[in-house]
Amino acid sequence: MTTPATRPVPTTPVRSRAGFAANPARGRFNSAFFSVMGGYIDWHMHKRKVDAFADLPSDVVEVGSGVGANLRYLSHGTRLIAIEPNPYMHARLRRAARRRGVELEIRSVVGERIDLPDASAEAVISSLVLCTVSDPAAVLAEIRRILVPGGRFSFAEHVVAKSRTPTRWSQRILRRPWAWVFEGCSCERDLSSLIASAGFTSVDITPYRIHSPFVPFNTHIAGTAIA
Ligand SMILES: C[S@@+](CC[C@H](N)C(=O)[O-])C[C@H]1O[C@@H](n2cnc3c(N)ncnc32)[C@H](O)[C@@H]1O
Repeated sequence: MTTPATRPVPTTPVRSRAGFAANPARGRFNSAFFSVMGGYIDWHMHKRKVDAFADLPSDVVEVGSGVGANLRYLSHGTRLIAIEPNPYMHARLRRAARRRGVELEIRSVVGERIDLPDASAEAVISSLVLCTVSDPAAVLAEIRRILVPGGRFSFAEHVVAKSRTPTRWSQRILRRPWAWVFEGCSCERDLSSLIASAGFTSVDITPYRIHSPFVPFNTHIAGTAIA
């Protein structure tokens, strides 16, 4: 009797050639989570994203595209290069791009080492990514490197709350389980200061608050930085 071949299910993080440790269980969970919850999260951020992602050109680079939350802000026919190192996001991202009529190219590399030439992008976008990357300053330096002079980086991110507020306390208390579940996500990053000091020629940042049950996630910024 022959035993049917079974595909081994990886249980430990898989390090891709890009240096990203994809976790099979949490990678799949987050892919499903953002697919199911994406509409709800976007509903909270929609107004700010409409402003930040307005008038994008036909070629766009996105860092950390996930399952495609921002495809709805791109015009039909946009060519999108997605810097997305997590393989568990790719299938849903491809399906979403087909549905939205976006021409997608996925690069399985990290934002800290984008494999695009200097001054090759007119526009780079990100949402809910600088909280998760290992080195947000390095990612911002890469974004600036690949942008043409005058090119724009448009972002919508969640950030640390003001000190001595209930939201800040919740961010502090929940930081470890939050980072574990959401694959390294930190609610304690002062991304406004980081973007403002990243060497862009001009930066326009709007802080705002959402009212979701995910309290540590409720303090946000959106805006544009010009290279
Ligand atoms: C919280 S999800 C947000 C996804 C999507 N942008 C959204 O708004 O729903 C964070 C995304 O960043 C990606 N990511 C994590 N580390 C990264 C890195 N170093 N460089 C680029 N992307 C990264 C993850 O794989 C994930 O897709």
